[in-house]
Amino acid sequence: MTELPFDNSTRFAGKRVHLGICGSIACYRAADLLRAWRKLNIHVSATITESAQRFVSPMLFKSLGAMPVYESMFAPDEDVFAHLEPGQHAHAMVVAPTSADTLARLAHGNASDMLAAQALAFDGPLIIAPAMNPRMWDNSAVKANVAVLRERGAHIVAPGHGEAACGDTGFGRMADLPEIFLAVLRALSPQDMKGRKALVTAGPTREPWDGFRYWSNPSSGLMGASLAVCAFLRGAEVTALCGPINVTGALFLPDEVRRCAVESAREMFDAAQTLWPRMDMGIFAAAVADFSPQSIGQKKFKKSESPEGFTLAFHPNPDILETLAHSRKSEQKVLGFAAETVSTMQELLPMAAAKLKRKKADVLAANRVNEPAAGFCAPTNSVAVVDSRGREEIWPMQSKADVAWDLCSWLSQF
Ligand code: C5P
Repeated sequence: MTELPFDNSTRFAGKRVHLGICGSIACYRAADLLRAWRKLNIHVSATITESAQRFVSPMLFKSLGAMPVYESMFAPDEDVFAHLEPGQHAHAMVVAPTSADTLARLAHGNASDMLAAQALAFDGPLIIAPAMNPRMWDNSAVKANVAVLRERGAHIVAPGHGEAACGDTGFGRMADLPEIFLAVLRALSPQDMKGRKALVTAGPTREPWDGFRYWSNPSSGLMGASLAVCAFLRGAEVTALCGPINVTGALFLPDEVRRCAVESAREMFDAAQTLWPRMDMGIFAAAVADFSPQSIGQKKFKKSESPEGFTLAFHPNPDILETLAHSRKSEQKVLGFAAETVSTMQELLPMAAAKLKRKKADVLAANRVNEPAAGFCAPTNSVAVVDSRGREEIWPMQSKADVAWDLCSWLSQF
């Protein structure tokens, strides 16, 4: 299974999700969603409609840890109140894939099968991931059902574009798994950033010195992307300014996060300055190059032009975090990072405190880039965190998702 963003978080353990699966070719993909939620120690129960059972066996979902798995309303060994169960226990209900038929049942309050009855008796967050033929998805009856459900507060994870199994092309195939996975995590997250606009910088920058070569660093952008996803999960409207972070495969950001790609520190600075006045908070996780080489032309510099070697002059780049934090309105909140090379975590605290003060941040997290498990490209991080109210802590090594989660908790207290 491909890795999903946030699939190593520990912050959702013990939550309960009810997964509905309808008859669609996409129903085999629900198994990967189930596995990803189980990996987070989320308790998952499931209902497989009769048509879905023509495509996949309930045994598959039982084997992957769903419990219980409902197969029909009138199964002989079914509790008479089983149709009310998820409504009493689940924190979120997701139907992935949702067929046109189930969409119609849900929109019209029809309780003629187990899944529809359970949905009707569920008053928590409902996430719907439709999957059907493009002409069916385009039909005005389906559109009307979707509009009704959306208006009643269901979250529709819209289908994507592409070739359907039948050969037709258009919108209709079930959304990408990370979109559905995160829509459910969002429904399980506190909404302490709801309605707040967050600017997140992520990844390295590239500073060109001729038309084809650049000076950069090995940042994967994972810490910044985790923060962007986390702020999104907690209700923020996120704009991510991403340096070129496709070195190890593009990092996933959900469709609802606005992603702006930049290359150089100067481009990131200009974009951040333009966006900043409309933001409520800035999360500056990018590994911005402190210096840029002076460019020696737009063409590829040839060996023959300087066989003896050559010297490049470097000039300092503007500090995005420092400039924006110094010019901020009092209600704008700022989180920064410090990448240091020291031998102990303890040494990081005074460095973080000094940087917090100099840059005028509210929260600052320092990590040891010389520690392989906490540096560039690692999936984990260990940080020393300080805030402007004098709070100081050293956090143990944990996933970047968990570090992001806890940093957002600190920031949302300001
Ligand atoms: O001073 P130092 O580079 O250690 O500061 C690191 C913090 O400042 C990080 O949050 C980084 O994103 C930010 N920064 C910045 N613009 C720069 C350099 C660093 O926003 N030019």
